[in-house]
Amino acid sequence: MPDSFFEIAGISLRFGGLQVLNDVSFTVEQGEIVGLIGPNGAGKTTLFDVVSGFHKPAGGHIWFKDVDLVEERPYRRAWLGLGRTFQTARLFQNETVLDTVKTACHRRMGGGALVSTLRGALGTPSSVTAEREVEERAQMMIARLGLDDYSNKLCSELSYGTLRLTELASMLAMEPELVLLDEPSSGIAQRETEALGPLLLELREELGATFLLIEHDMPLIMGISDRIVALASGEILAQGTPAEVQANDQVIESYLGGRVDLDEVVA
Ligand SMILES: Nc1ncnc2c1ncn2[C@@H]1O[C@H](COP(=O)(O)OP(=O)(O)OP(=O)(O)O)[C@@H](O)[C@H]1O
Ligand SMILES: [Mg+2]
Repeated sequence: MPDSFFEIAGISLRFGGLQVLNDVSFTVEQGEIVGLIGPNGAGKTTLFDVVSGFHKPAGGHIWFKDVDLVEERPYRRAWLGLGRTFQTARLFQNETVLDTVKTACHRRMGGGALVSTLRGALGTPSSVTAEREVEERAQMMIARLGLDDYSNKLCSELSYGTLRLTELASMLAMEPELVLLDEPSSGIAQRETEALGPLLLELREELGATFLLIEHDMPLIMGISDRIVALASGEILAQGTPAEVQANDQVIESYLGGRVDLDEVVA
């Protein structure tokens, strides 16, 4: 049995003749923010796809709270407390922000413990109580991510940055314990990127969640991660604190192209 909250253990995957992931292993402890870096095509998104169940690995295990996710169906992984956002936002364009976040709440709350307790305590018909609870939770998450002004707007009307925040709100509304974020800063404005670091640090505190984060924005990922895992050509090149990984010769050569100035980081 693994000791860690989350553990990738010897994960390998091939696409045809291409070894996309080769014996990848690392751990994430509860409450940590772990950053996953690597050049384009390193296998970062594919690793997220394996964790969330889109691809079955050729070998290895993924331990999450003592369950091997490789053996679980994708929907069960979300139910166990795994949340994920995608490299490009994937939302229904003709739904409002509020409906989008409510839908996510519904998925989480269908028959959850909190809903049952409320039903019992208030003696109200279950559907009415549950609906009220969903509405409140959705509004709360929307406010938390600063999306109040967009609540009744259609997703198709949003800027890309706002769309990505809506996606994040929907995912967090499902109360995940482990959050996988695939390049949350990609395609959003510099000002929004700068706000993202402090926001993620605050959300970790408030939600008690654990984060595994893919990012190409070095000041962002080096600034908020407790540890960094560097991947290249499907293999782990280095792991350690941000300072250790930035000083690693192989990482510098294959990816960073020079040290990131730690004075510039956001946290
Ligand atoms: N469904 C697929 N079928 C075949 N090859 C794939 C598939 N998905 C990804 N690949 C290949 O696997 C490799 C890893 O891709 P992946 O998207 O995981 O990289 P990444 O590290 O996320 O890169 P980026 O930083 O550009 O997002 C690449 O060579 C890619 O072309
Ligand atoms: Mg990717």
